[in-house]
Amino acid sequence: TDCSVVDLLSGKFSVGQVVKVKGWVRTRRDSKAGISFVAVYDGSCFDAIQAVVPNSLSNYEEVLRLTTGCSVMITGEVVESPGQGQAFEIQATGVEVIGWVEDPDTYPMAAKRHTVEFLREHAHLRPRTNLIGAVARVRNSLAQAIHRFYHERGYIWVSTPIITASDTEGAGEMFRVSTLDLENLPRNDQDAVDFSQDFFGKESFLTVSGQLNAETYACALSKVYTFGPTFRAENSNTSRHLAEFWMMEPEVAFADLDDVAALAEDMLKYVFKAVLEERGDDMAFFAQRIEKQAISRLESFISKDFAQVDYTDAIEILLQSGRKFEMDVSWGIDMSSEHERYLAEEHFKAPVVVKNYPRDIKAFYMRQNDDGKTVAAMDVLAPGIGEIIGGSQREERLEVFDARLEEMGLNKEDYSWYRDLRRYGSVPHSGFGLGFERLVSYVTGMSNIRDVIPFPRAPKQADY
Ligand code: 4AD
Ligand code: MG
Repeated sequence: TDCSVVDLLSGKFSVGQVVKVKGWVRTRRDSKAGISFVAVYDGSCFDAIQAVVPNSLSNYEEVLRLTTGCSVMITGEVVESPGQGQAFEIQATGVEVIGWVEDPDTYPMAAKRHTVEFLREHAHLRPRTNLIGAVARVRNSLAQAIHRFYHERGYIWVSTPIITASDTEGAGEMFRVSTLDLENLPRNDQDAVDFSQDFFGKESFLTVSGQLNAETYACALSKVYTFGPTFRAENSNTSRHLAEFWMMEPEVAFADLDDVAALAEDMLKYVFKAVLEERGDDMAFFAQRIEKQAISRLESFISKDFAQVDYTDAIEILLQSGRKFEMDVSWGIDMSSEHERYLAEEHFKAPVVVKNYPRDIKAFYMRQNDDGKTVAAMDVLAPGIGEIIGGSQREERLEVFDARLEEMGLNKEDYSWYRDLRRYGSVPHSGFGLGFERLVSYVTGMSNIRDVIPFPRAPKQADY
């Protein structure tokens, strides 16, 4: 019977059963007694299965040439492992080499520790390492848990478009989508390119957020979410920004800011629990190799209530802290990560929801508060990473929304479909966006966001 490494190690097969395992060699060790120990992984779990290979095999010569990365099929009997660590191993009766590693001395993924920078330069081979394999499994587990969480609560998953005309965040950080005929581009500066026509006759971009589209479905199906790739053309070379990242955005009708703050807390706790349950093996590895607190901080995250603070009070806390920040603190600033981390890590020592930000630093769609100065916006700040979620209650009052558009110099006609939601059966509604890679970074402790997405897209980084 064919079986995966995880099924074998978790005891799905009984001792004495003959099984076949297909995978790649992690390591090989030979004993003087004429036995080789070949560790084989297939990515189904962190651990490799050990095959005990006797020199009586007809192709034992080949076994002695196996190196890290060779692909093999091992046939043999499941036996109890006498060694520590694992319950089972395979007493091999056959080892078939499926693919050799051409030149083991130059194979980049030799079984040793590599720097993350080195691995990034070999993005096509890095999933073979313990580290990136573990990241991939944890990432999957988190995504599946997110879908489960919403599905169990009756949310409808809506696919929102990637090509769009709307700059949701209004930050001018959009990648242009063009069908321009490169051959016939103007040759000199005088002939400006007409970008207003560039996508089959309509100026278009890659989406920065699915929110506006999700709102249309929330205003019909009540509880929806979107989860997909989003794009930001910000030229920032930091360890928490990508040009292409995945965002998960719930949108809820008849909900206010407090409702979605509670939703964010429930969701994060749910997915952290799920990953601790499902990926104990990988999480133990992250705790040992990457971030000592990887498991304990998730446990504490799950057991504590989030702190809640108004932006205005948060600014006061920063001012009273006596701390010298790189960026000066005053009411009205867009907090930077040093401020966010101070609040979460040193002041509240817990995840914190900051609410009611100055309207001047926030997007056009956010609901205005009665004070005239702030909007019903929130950010969730996690210790160790800073902003992980951004959200708000949306302005559902047409007159207030129109006044805001005008004040910001935005064109009513461009938002006609969005205004229709406010014209026909408008309801209070709210939502947020979770940066999926920020979440994976936080859970794994991987300090650079480029190491938690298979093929990172960042300034000067678009290979593969
Ligand atoms: O705060 P942001 O810009 O909010 C929105 O886009 C809203 N439309 C979401 C909504 O209300 N539906 O982005 C949301 C989250 C941030 O909190 C951050 O975690 C992540 O997306 N994010 C990025 N992650 C990686 N690289 C980038 N360049 C990111 N920009 C934002
Ligand atoms: Mg934000």
